[in-house]
Amino acid sequence: MKIFLNKTELSSYLEEFKSKGDSIGFVPTMGALHEGHLSLVKKGLEDNNLVVVSIFVNPTQFDNGEDLIKYPRTLDADVRALESVSKTKIVVYAPAVEDIYGNNVTSQAFSFDGLEHEMEGAFRKGHFDGVGTIVKRLFEIVKPEYAYFGEKDFQQLQIIKKLTELYNLPVKVVGCPIHRADDGLAMSSRNTRLTTEHRAAAPFIFKTLQTAKIKFGTESAKVVTEWVEKAFKEEPLLDLEYFIIADTMTLKPVKRKSTQKTYRAFIAAYAGDIRLIDNIALN
Ligand code: PAJ
Repeated sequence: MKIFLNKTELSSYLEEFKSKGDSIGFVPTMGALHEGHLSLVKKGLEDNNLVVVSIFVNPTQFDNGEDLIKYPRTLDADVRALESVSKTKIVVYAPAVEDIYGNNVTSQAFSFDGLEHEMEGAFRKGHFDGVGTIVKRLFEIVKPEYAYFGEKDFQQLQIIKKLTELYNLPVKVVGCPIHRADDGLAMSSRNTRLTTEHRAAAPFIFKTLQTAKIKFGTESAKVVTEWVEKAFKEEPLLDLEYFIIADTMTLKPVKRKSTQKTYRAFIAAYAGDIRLIDNIALN
């Protein structure tokens, strides 16, 4: 498998590829790859002749220095996982921080029509400026026709769609379903850092989302939210940071349900010091 550490070499390889008229798909990641990431890569391979996977733990999107330091870095295992999908149709871009940021590790300030102020944006200061900065740069380097993002980070997916719209970027953003472990826990690179006890408790997050979805069929958002908050109080191993039912497009919390709109429920919760997020479509 071809692994590029340098954007200039990657670009010239991809230019040659594009000159033959072949389409390129792109899956940006921070590595520690699991089946969720691989499901995006597989979707990319269905639609394109070549899939570029970037593996880069982006410093500017971490609001918590400890989380950045502890983020798993497993390049060898990541390459092996990708090779199990395809040895010839995937290339990896695994740059050092300097290749992306030079010696100026800062993010651009973005406005995404307010999407950036909700949920993750409210709880992780500067997070979406960091995400916007890195994804825009990566799009400029890879110049893909299609880019694949997981609904696991649904707010991020909506923000990247907005980014391409605002900057007229010639890339089609494709959302992919959340890949889960057998017990329902959404796969995440952070799951490997859970203690055995916290890992056993964590499927409660998805179970609660599923029940919230059923309740939302007959109850108001307020009643469902109160029920979820109470349920988490009775679960000592998990600490709820937020539960929000939001409009799928604006991501603003729902006040009054409308049959014309679609909604999603979003959760962030701590299992020990590991922060987990998940979400579910409600209608
Ligand atoms: P990372 O957390 O590594 O995720 C990379 C991509 O995989 C994202 O689009 C994410 O939504 C998707 N993904 C993660 N877990 C998934 C799951 N269980 N099912 C489906 N898709 C899943 O998201 C990032 O990295 C970064 O913010 C990045 C976009 C790479 C910018 O640095």
